[in-house]
Amino acid sequence: MSVFDTEGNDATGHEQVVFCQDRQTGLKAIIGIYSTALGPALGGTRFYPYASEATALTDVLNLSRGMAYKNALAGLDLGGGKAVIWGDPAQIKTEGLLRAYGRFVETLNGRYYTACDVGTYVPDMDVIARETRYVTGRSVEHGGAGDSSILTAWGVFQGMRAAAEHTWGRPTLAGRRVGIAGLGKVGKYLAGHLIEDGASLVATDVNEAALSWARTTYPQIDLVADTQTLITGDIDVYAPCALGGALDDDTVPALRAKVVTGGANNQLAHPGIEKLLEERGILYTPDYVVNAGGVIQVADEIEGFNFERAKLRATKIFDTTGQILRLADDEGVPPAVAADRLAERRMAEVGRLRSIYLR
Ligand SMILES: NC(=O)c1ccc[n+]([C@@H]2O[C@H](COP(=O)([O-])OP(=O)(O)OC[C@H]3O[C@@H](n4cnc5c(N)ncnc54)[C@H](O)[C@@H]3O)[C@@H](O)[C@H]2O)c1
Repeated sequence: MSVFDTEGNDATGHEQVVFCQDRQTGLKAIIGIYSTALGPALGGTRFYPYASEATALTDVLNLSRGMAYKNALAGLDLGGGKAVIWGDPAQIKTEGLLRAYGRFVETLNGRYYTACDVGTYVPDMDVIARETRYVTGRSVEHGGAGDSSILTAWGVFQGMRAAAEHTWGRPTLAGRRVGIAGLGKVGKYLAGHLIEDGASLVATDVNEAALSWARTTYPQIDLVADTQTLITGDIDVYAPCALGGALDDDTVPALRAKVVTGGANNQLAHPGIEKLLEERGILYTPDYVVNAGGVIQVADEIEGFNFERAKLRATKIFDTTGQILRLADDEGVPPAVAADRLAERRMAEVGRLRSIYLR
């Protein structure tokens, strides 16, 4: 993938891509700023042992573009960015490396805010914050918001309610059977909301501790051996809450659910799967729309965290999902395409306001 775009190719078209190196600590990082049309770019730092510099670059370009769309639809005044640190965190993550990285983030002078992602955690953000103001997702002791999966699950539940209204006429999962794949941080909270709403649940997980949590906390959840059994069973809604790529050429034809809404990132294994879902009459609520509760939480922290305010904003995922589903119907496109269009519209309309000179 190339950084410079001369042909209007949205997959690239980044505003700024910064390569950072500190040979002493072994830091090699790339910060990608896709868009600051709505405000400073926000997106986490992924610390991962990429096979090559090219793979790291491709990942950061894809992820930062994704954040611009996610932040736009979450109603945030924030653009999209992301960073990758190339290397094995188990081998090279040190205070020195994180602080060196923090100094590079500081050089961007607020054009990019970082946060946690795969391979980076809340305590790492506290270390990075010793060198830069532009970091969120911090510990509660440092004014941070703590566990982001609480609002992620709340937002997924709101998206699912909107999908239920669109499909069955009422914004509730009461009387519906929902299949959750992955009872991790997000899946657990989602299960609680669904039970409270009156849904019946079936779930699966590969981790015995997660299953044992379910047996003890919610004995009414039916547990099945694997995702294949879950999706071919009699369910109304499928909620992927484990890893990415849950919807592929094998799972979509086998699905019995009418609705797919879950917390997992990157649920569509490849472009085109959204059309396959549509052909099968399955309503798919785009993952980046319904799982935005986490980013809403870390974004709120920038103002000084207020849980109720952040929850209110995550509740709006109900309205946004409904709007996307109606737009998809009106324009005759899958919801994934409608979501992209809505995000692009907001970036263009609100971003344009900067052209009104203030002082
Ligand atoms: N935590 C957040 O705030 C947040 C925000 C946005 C998106 N997400 C996405 O939501 C998903 C879940 O995140 P999480 O924080 O709950 O992670 P987690 O690691 O706490 O939970 C994932 C769960 O899925 C289970 N799992 C893994 N492979 C499985 C399989 N093949 N079948 C069934 N279960 C399997 C794991 O055992 C684990 O219990 C991820 O894709 C994550 O990127 C999370």
